[in-house]
Amino acid sequence: MTDKNKIIIIGSDHGGFEMKEFIKENLINNGYKIKDIGTHSTESVDYPDFIHPVAKAINDNKNELGIIFCGSGNGAQMTANKYNNVRAALCWTEEQAKLCRMHNNANIISIPGRFIDLELGLKMVKIFLTTDFEGGRHIQRVNKISQIS
Ligand code: RB5
Repeated sequence: MTDKNKIIIIGSDHGGFEMKEFIKENLINNGYKIKDIGTHSTESVDYPDFIHPVAKAINDNKNELGIIFCGSGNGAQMTANKYNNVRAALCWTEEQAKLCRMHNNANIISIPGRFIDLELGLKMVKIFLTTDFEGGRHIQRVNKISQIS
């Protein structure tokens, strides 16, 4: 369960803008504190320009959670996962949103703004923010993710 005093960092390109705004408004109305990196309109932009700042913030502060959006969710997730302490999960279903927290201790959820409806996006985010890492056998697996030579 995410402490509502923690700041959730969000960012998107134009492909995820509508979903970002919908989810941001709902989370703020539910008492969450949000830092919105942008983008702030549907004007075409390059997703790395908005995803890098989100991922860097999560990378530097391991206790925070982030939400990123682009059209497919892929470019955003690929960008975020360049950071060693980031585990960004591309999710399309509620079950994936739950499992990425329980099993992978994901600290960023990536949402495909052009491929799912707004309500499903919001449901996934709520699950992501309220599901805890299971620990146990998953700890050593998660620890091995960033062990690359
Ligand atoms: C933008 O048109 C689109 O390519 C972007 O939102 C995303 O889907 C990239 O992965």
